[in-house]
Amino acid sequence: MWSKAASILALASVAVAQSKGFNYGSTNADGRCRGPDDFVHFFNEAKSLPGAPGFNTARLYTSIQCGTPDYPISAFQAAIDTNTTLLVGLWASAGRDVIENELKALLRAARELGPAFTDKVMGISVGSEDLYRSSPQGVANKAGAGATGAEIEGYIARVKDQIRGTGLESKPIGHVDTWTAWVLPENRGVAKAVSWLGHNSFPYFENTRPNAIDEAQANFYAAVGQTESVSDGKPVWITETGWPRLGPKSGSAVASLENSKRYWQEVGCSLFGARNTFWYTLKDANVAQTDISFAITPPQNNTPFFDLTCHK
Ligand SMILES: *[C@@H]1O[C@H](CO)[C@@H](O)[C@H](O)[C@H]1NC(C)=O
Repeated sequence: MWSKAASILALASVAVAQSKGFNYGSTNADGRCRGPDDFVHFFNEAKSLPGAPGFNTARLYTSIQCGTPDYPISAFQAAIDTNTTLLVGLWASAGRDVIENELKALLRAARELGPAFTDKVMGISVGSEDLYRSSPQGVANKAGAGATGAEIEGYIARVKDQIRGTGLESKPIGHVDTWTAWVLPENRGVAKAVSWLGHNSFPYFENTRPNAIDEAQANFYAAVGQTESVSDGKPVWITETGWPRLGPKSGSAVASLENSKRYWQEVGCSLFGARNTFWYTLKDANVAQTDISFAITPPQNNTPFFDLTCHK
């Protein structure tokens, strides 16, 4: 009896094990398009990080290969080659024509790569921070082009319609945004339309309240609570969080190796295995963020800047 109970418990804990991964854009830090070799290289480095096993999942922002109008991103084939799970992304802030091209690329991959690809897909995100960028806060921060809640709802309906009858039909559709955008009343329809809510939050950037590293864990979970307040009990996946090793002071938040390490330990280690989590990030690659570094490894290799071992 005991051993049976124990094995049922073991099965239950296997069933709830959550994905761990990083975020991957379609270009490198120098603006060069990422190709298959880049993605294979990063995915293998992520899986063999010293002190942090199990980072076998990748979140993408777009399904289109950089430099092409509508060809599938080479990360899809790289995921097959490296046995990496994918949280697929569709870029939703560049208008209807681009969303159609995103879908075209995704559906072509499903057709041509077949189950080798679709079996690796854990979900599809329709957009990333589009609601934030179109919110008063995003506009004030000159965050760039976004999309409204009504537009994202329309795109979600379109994606659901188009994946019907393909190998992607059963994949949970979500959307990724900041908690400040999720809680706006005009975005409630998006929260209703998705199967999971992607939560991006960086206590480092939230400088309108006390945001020193000492407060970071409490601030992070308060932000998650805000997104959960509109999720109707649906899962909230942590799609981006991290703390910079280098960068300017942000309110009382200091970018440093020590604080980056502490945030990994206090926030990262509390999430890994407990919730689907995509850390920001493995490699610096944001051409708009040259004065700040969130990377946990240097460009040349996967030797972490600090000890990644979780202490509990
Ligand atoms: C691929 O990864 C999954 C976990 O995501 C694992 O269960 C499986 O054994 C791996 N397959 C191979 C061939 O390594």
